[in-house]
Amino acid sequence: MSETTTTARDLRERAAVLDAADPLAARRELFALDDGVYLDGNSLGALPVHVPARVQDVLTRQWGQLRIRSWDESGWWTAPERIGDRIAPLVGAAAGQIVVGDSTSVNVFKAVVAAGRLAGEGRDEILVDATTFPTDGYIASAAARLTGHRIVPVAPADVPAALGPRTAAVLLNHVDYRSGRLHDLPGLTAAVHAAGAVVVWDLCHSAGALPVGLDEHRVDLAVGCTYKYLNGGPGSPAYLYVAERHQAAFDSPLPGWNSHADPFGMTSGYAPADGSVRGRVGTPDIVSMLTLEAALDVWDGVPVDAVRAKSLALTDFFLECVEAYVPAGRVTSVTPAAHAERGSQVALRCAEAEPVMRRLIERGVVGDLRRPDVLRFGFTPLYVGFADAERAARILAEVLAEVSAGDTVG
Ligand SMILES: Cc1ncc(COP(=O)(O)O)c(C=O)c1O
Repeated sequence: MSETTTTARDLRERAAVLDAADPLAARRELFALDDGVYLDGNSLGALPVHVPARVQDVLTRQWGQLRIRSWDESGWWTAPERIGDRIAPLVGAAAGQIVVGDSTSVNVFKAVVAAGRLAGEGRDEILVDATTFPTDGYIASAAARLTGHRIVPVAPADVPAALGPRTAAVLLNHVDYRSGRLHDLPGLTAAVHAAGAVVVWDLCHSAGALPVGLDEHRVDLAVGCTYKYLNGGPGSPAYLYVAERHQAAFDSPLPGWNSHADPFGMTSGYAPADGSVRGRVGTPDIVSMLTLEAALDVWDGVPVDAVRAKSLALTDFFLECVEAYVPAGRVTSVTPAAHAERGSQVALRCAEAEPVMRRLIERGVVGDLRRPDVLRFGFTPLYVGFADAERAARILAEVLAEVSAGDTVG
């Protein structure tokens, strides 16, 4: 038997043992998946199988039969806060601080403007993660133009050195969307506070994948999407966290009628509501919102620590399989090896990334590509197993054998 075959057999056996001991393994049945390996839950989470029936009820009974009565009787009006409270334990927040609605981009706008206002006069700089997902940078720049702040792009590790008496706010990503690097939320939050500034964290790539600890680490404001690890569906609404201690002073730049203290009073003057409701804008997108609410059922009884433990074990195992199967030099991991610096995805730099990902997808291994040369593989602990990780690495090696080195189109 060849050495490669022995290695493959060993790794497959290890995968089977790890899957058998996995306390989250049974969760996979809650999702609509096929025989392939879905490693793109860090972009669009899979559909929980019970969701279509719940959405059908929203459409046919709540809307079709109850019509306008559903704003009260089906709890439509209070859905943004109610669903925020469902997300809260997943990101370490007590109830009453998260409101669901709008896109992440819109919530970045609300949070950055509000953070600048919370910081007060005399501070004119907003530090923005220089490696950020682009929308955060675009929105922060536009917000700064409106509020008269100056944007300072800074790599997260350099934030402590860049902080000063002029810093009003800092916008950071908890996990980098490209490399999968996990940033030091407790340490950076403490540094921002020591400088007297306000921090806004983007949790898109961490919520549902690892513990965040918003309250424990005294985060000021945070935003995140729900269509990745929270499986809320394409375009599902995002959320905004405003720490309770800031709520009374939270001054939204989008004070729509849904955030009014008396929305049905229809008064011409604006008076903000108390609590997380203050982060609302206009009429919520009820169908998407209730789709998300149903999808969150898959988290019932799941400790986030168990998710984190499995995520690290999965990404470790995938990296080990890649190392065993893939000839040296064809891919390089840009995801940190240290657990304290790793989110729930593995990003591999590969000169032939484009044809390689195309062929992987053709063979049922669905990851994605961040141009020009990064292959991303997201590990969603609720439905990805160790056998999936082994298979994905093995097929990656087979595909790399078909695509010659230096061939960026083939
Ligand atoms: C870190 C991060 N921020 C923001 C977004 C996008 O936000 P939106 O929901 O507005 O499309 C993404 C999307 O993938 C993201 O990864």
